[in-house]
Amino acid sequence: MTLKTITSPERMYQWVSRAVLEGRKVGVVPTMGALHEGHLSLVDAAKAECDLVVATIFVNPTQFAAGEDLDQYPRPLENDLRHLKEGGASIAFCPAMEEIYPRGYSTYVSPPEIAAPFEGLHRPDHFRGVATIVLKLFQMVPAQVAFFGQKDYQQTLVVKKMVEDFNLPIEIRVCPILREPDGLAMSSRNVFLSDEQRGRAVAISKVLAEIEPEILRLTDHSSALKNRLTGVMETARKRLEVKVDKIHYLDVVDAQTLQSISDTTTEVVIVAAADVGDTRLLDNRLVKIR
Ligand code: PAJ
Repeated sequence: MTLKTITSPERMYQWVSRAVLEGRKVGVVPTMGALHEGHLSLVDAAKAECDLVVATIFVNPTQFAAGEDLDQYPRPLENDLRHLKEGGASIAFCPAMEEIYPRGYSTYVSPPEIAAPFEGLHRPDHFRGVATIVLKLFQMVPAQVAFFGQKDYQQTLVVKKMVEDFNLPIEIRVCPILREPDGLAMSSRNVFLSDEQRGRAVAISKVLAEIEPEILRLTDHSSALKNRLTGVMETARKRLEVKVDKIHYLDVVDAQTLQSISDTTTEVVIVAAADVGDTRLLDNRLVKIR
């Protein structure tokens, strides 16, 4: 399988439009590069469902705030292209900055309400940047299906709601989180961790895994799960606090609304964001409770 690299949005659009007209099913996997097995699992899922797979690589500046790691964000393009080729993607779409945000660029998507808590509180313009680039990518790559990772759970909710609200003709698939053997969620940012930090970072996935059976135990005969979870979450927070350098949030909420658990909640998500050294790490776990 050969991998074609396209940088021009016009050529990209024409290529996908033609493939779709010819009756092919096209899947798109949006990424910021620095690809790891988590990204490649999305390519695999896309290959399983589609005839052609477009992976996009673009480090999107509008989703980074000043002082975040935009400049340090890893950009190993040659490696990424090799991975995509080995992974069986058809096209790598790697547009230049000037093509996406030319001088004078000024149109942005105002993200849906689901963007407000958690990442939205800690990174105020993050989802405005994500929604804007994802909409632009869907325009340039008019695929029928797009693949996202549960790793960025809130992002999947933001994208799904935008697709619904803007009547975008694309289906969104959410794929499971790929983890290192010890449980740490794979992330392009894990390369920033020193050995010592890497040793502590695993605490995030461990603590989330420990909360899950507690939730299931409490839901057996409880309608007031939210209150009964308070003690569990306090213990979990204490356990995590001693391992990481800063907890941005650690919470259990309704998986659809990201609001407090209610009587109608059927699935919860345990969400966490924490710094280990200067590296901000995210993780989550979905738990069906009814
Ligand atoms: P990026 O962080 O490169 O992630 C690209 C896709 O890979 C996302 O859908 C993300 O959830 C998924 N992913 C990352 N780590 C994963 C893991 N361990 N297991 C499974 N999937 C994983 O998310 C972005 O880029 C950007 O915000 C983007 C959507 C491309 C817009 O710029």
